[in-house]
Amino acid sequence: MKKIVIFASGTGSNAEKIILHFKKSSLGNVVGIFSNNPHAKVLELTKLYDIQSIVFDKRDMVDGYVLQEINKIQPDLIVLAGFLWKFPASIITSYPNKVINIHPALLPNYGGKGMYGMHVHKAVLENKEKETGITIHYVNENYDEGAFIFQKAINIEDCTVPEEIAEKVHQLEHEFFPDVIETLITNY
Ligand code: GAR
Repeated sequence: MKKIVIFASGTGSNAEKIILHFKKSSLGNVVGIFSNNPHAKVLELTKLYDIQSIVFDKRDMVDGYVLQEINKIQPDLIVLAGFLWKFPASIITSYPNKVINIHPALLPNYGGKGMYGMHVHKAVLENKEKETGITIHYVNENYDEGAFIFQKAINIEDCTVPEEIAEKVHQLEHEFFPDVIETLITNY
């Protein structure tokens, strides 16, 4: 049984899909949820599904506390699912090719610092894009620049507000992210 930990900063709808997927799979299990936001809705999932939660601040990230907590778990995969801080190089080097992120657009477009959540969808709409999508990629020391694992596009010509784009993108994420994770851990 492969151990998965999730980093999230907000609602955690992707985290919940992943948790539920692996409740039905013998291949892996979500064993920890890390959040930089003590008020994040994602933390409710830890009570609901009896999963260890680790809440941390910027200093914990820098001084090694977060890495120490990860090391206690020894995860096979670290999944960033709506995690909005830059991920520290020290953790990436300790877990090479084991940290992945989901981005709500078709990278390399609409990535980089400040490009997260609704900011992405607003920019996509302002540029009158016909399609957007999701990118699942390995995490390296630069925002949204690691090697791609999976991309899926979706037509958004019928969307008139960013919220409609967000909804379509979330649906794609929920449909594909758990399966991509399962494929990855199967090949480890
Ligand atoms: C997701 O759409 C994810 O792609 C995005 O945050 C949302 C989190 O939703 N991540 C980024 O923008 C990272 N740059 P959720 O909390 O409901 O899973």
